[in-house]
Amino acid sequence: MKSAAIRDAFLKFFESKGHSVVESSSLIPGNDPTLLFTNAGMVPFKDVFLGDEKRSYSRAASSQRCVRAGGKHNDLENVGYTARHHTFFEMLGNFSFGDYFKRDAIQYAWEFLTKVLGLPEERLWVTVHISDDEAADIWLKEMGVSPERFSRLDEDNFWAMGDTGPCGPSSEIFYDHGADVPGGPPGSENDDLDRYIEIWNLVFMQYQRDADGTMTPLPKPSIDTGMGLERIAAVMQGKHNNYDIDLFRNLIAAASEVTSENNLQNKALRVIADHIRSSAFLIVDGVLPSNEGRGYVLRRIIRRALRQGHKLGVSEPFFYRLVAALVAEMGAAYPELASRQGQVEKVLKAEEEQFAKTLDKGMAVLEQALNDLSGNELPGKVVFQLYDTYGFPTDLTNDICRERDLGIDLDGYQKEMEAQKARARAASNFSVDYSASVNLDGATEFTGYQQLQQQGIVTALLVAGESVEELVAGQEAVVVLDQTAFYAEGGGQVGDSGYLELANGRFEVHDCIKQGDNHLHVGVLQKGTANVGDVATSSVNEDVRTATALNHSATHLLHAALRRVLGDHVTQQGSLVDSERLRFDFSHFEAMTAEQVKQVEQIVNTEIRRNTPVTAEVMTMDAAKESGAMMLFGEKYGEEVRVLTMGGDFSVELCGGTHVQRTGDIGLLRITAESGIAAGVRRLEAVTGSGAIALFDQLDSRLQTVAATVKSSVATVADKVTQLVERNRELGKELDAAKAKLASSTGGDLVAQAQDIQGVKVLATVVEGVDGKALRDLMDQIKSKLDKGVILLAATSGDKISLVAGVTKPVTGQVKAGDLMKFVAEQVGGKGGGRPDMAQGGGTDVAALPAAVDSVIGWVADKL
Ligand code: ALA
Repeated sequence: MKSAAIRDAFLKFFESKGHSVVESSSLIPGNDPTLLFTNAGMVPFKDVFLGDEKRSYSRAASSQRCVRAGGKHNDLENVGYTARHHTFFEMLGNFSFGDYFKRDAIQYAWEFLTKVLGLPEERLWVTVHISDDEAADIWLKEMGVSPERFSRLDEDNFWAMGDTGPCGPSSEIFYDHGADVPGGPPGSENDDLDRYIEIWNLVFMQYQRDADGTMTPLPKPSIDTGMGLERIAAVMQGKHNNYDIDLFRNLIAAASEVTSENNLQNKALRVIADHIRSSAFLIVDGVLPSNEGRGYVLRRIIRRALRQGHKLGVSEPFFYRLVAALVAEMGAAYPELASRQGQVEKVLKAEEEQFAKTLDKGMAVLEQALNDLSGNELPGKVVFQLYDTYGFPTDLTNDICRERDLGIDLDGYQKEMEAQKARARAASNFSVDYSASVNLDGATEFTGYQQLQQQGIVTALLVAGESVEELVAGQEAVVVLDQTAFYAEGGGQVGDSGYLELANGRFEVHDCIKQGDNHLHVGVLQKGTANVGDVATSSVNEDVRTATALNHSATHLLHAALRRVLGDHVTQQGSLVDSERLRFDFSHFEAMTAEQVKQVEQIVNTEIRRNTPVTAEVMTMDAAKESGAMMLFGEKYGEEVRVLTMGGDFSVELCGGTHVQRTGDIGLLRITAESGIAAGVRRLEAVTGSGAIALFDQLDSRLQTVAATVKSSVATVADKVTQLVERNRELGKELDAAKAKLASSTGGDLVAQAQDIQGVKVLATVVEGVDGKALRDLMDQIKSKLDKGVILLAATSGDKISLVAGVTKPVTGQVKAGDLMKFVAEQVGGKGGGRPDMAQGGGTDVAALPAAVDSVIGWVADKL
């Protein structure tokens, strides 16, 4: 039975049992920063289990794409080492949201396996949780499962999505691949070998686990089940190894072709085949290789695959070439994969090309270090060097070491990493080394959302990274206050500037940054003194703050408008907001068209004109999710978050920045540039408010200048310029015709000047007022008028000399145009060459030209 047929049969079976068939969701869990990837079929239904979300159905079934790499369920390191671990797989699942519970779940599973798939009961083995008598009774008494193929386990029969979230005891069904395969039944010593393979996990969802481990009963007991499609396909296709099933066979064949590795059992091919699936699907779902969060997991997967290729001796980019084979295999079930094939290939190829630059060198460094190694652990210093200089993720280095039964010193690596961070902090910014060596206690309370002035107490003073008690005038320093109105750089928004009025002095603040919970005011003491314990009034530069707020609020509108115009795959990748401009980076695969840019601009400007209030509300993370607020992945949010809403539900985002009161305050937004900054990441730049007006003024003044120059008005300048361009084209044509005419008559004149040397007409002359092309035309004219001729024409334009040499066919036996050209060009400091009958060249020594031209007759006479 093919994998696709199993997927179909599963969904149809549960549809016939009253389940709604639900499409696979994205690999990126919606609005759930606690989870890296969708790692089980239940993830899209998490809030339904928790009772926070209602659906129109209480039973569902799906075939959900899952990634288990990074986070609680991480199989990255197992891929290639076992017969059944994957970074990407499909999970078949049926779910009950407070509808049926254990009995039905067990009955459905048994019926599907034994009746629909026709698996013999004596090949199945069942486990339940040690405490679960209810499930045990159903299996043994009602379903008649033999106690000999039944066991009760502890941790193995308890399933949780992550460290927090829904969880409960489970019951697992195993398939016995037969006595000829090594391994013992579940719970026995050798149960991790290949004989008994878990195929289906039935989870009796009963609790919600909090961060502190407390388990609260769910509002309604529910069912979550998961059966790996690849595993059940292996069973149905009589294979022990998932990589031998239909879904993988073609991928492995394609991997073999692009790597020229003919041994299809080579583990490297399996790793590559597994990794192309997770990489491609992650990219389809909007993840791009990067150095943090999900993007870094993707990068690790891709680089791991590339290293396998390297091991097989592949030196050209190969990984991206597997996308086509993957589309052939899975494009029908996942149309989004087929439609994004080109983009996925582009992203992968770019990553391959980037890593190729350092992979060889890194491998050489690693080989050397392994040769020199005395113990059985690669030192942290080398692991760090490979990471930092050659882009080797630690798990990649570990993988290579593991192949040689060696380990890596992760603690040492962490130490190196910390040391580098400290160096970077020390090197950043001007002479003030903010607080590298000072541990600041306490926290600064930020009151600047409501007001631009705040009285506080100086809690610390830092000079060159050292804590001091007093500052004197002229010193560059950092002032820390217990309360401040200054916003510290964060969320893409620059820190505030302004000044601090102290008891006996005044401190000018150039920037404000955050360290831990403290706001560091960076600047210089202009006059007087400053002491720890002083009362200080912080005053934010209002103009700068306001202009910055306009730009920050505009990025939120821009983000929302982009998602409306381009689609939900648009997510923020970075932003920079200061008082002059804004920059917004987002995931999108191709350049925006001019119309799309206009449309986005128009939507934003409409929102601005609607002039709705901008509200900020602090709420719990759960409430924020409820409100549908957009969250940035990779960001760590606390329990309490600030939700910023603009234009009703037009834009709802988590944000700690400072914003306008009403959208109308922004005045106007004008997009100034759209560009690509990395594979799959686009950047928009824009100005707002008085910045936008200044831009219009500038454009207007340029237009006025153009209008005045062409003696027109702004209203009619476009027509006027069109007319002028048209007229210019006509004039050009006329000029060409006139030149041709002139050349033709000049040609006649010149022929008359040619000297006869032994029956050959020889002409060498400088022609005035023609360019290179006209010179060639002239040459053709003259040649056509002569039977036997040798001609050299020269023209000058500034200090540039153009030369053309021509010899008519009957003479080319004695004189070659190319030789003549060389002879002349060398004399004028240039070069040239060509065919026997026609050659071109140039030079720069205009003073030497007359003598060079005169020398032609003698040179030709010698050859004839
Ligand atoms: N959510 C359960 C699992 O992933 C079914 O195993």
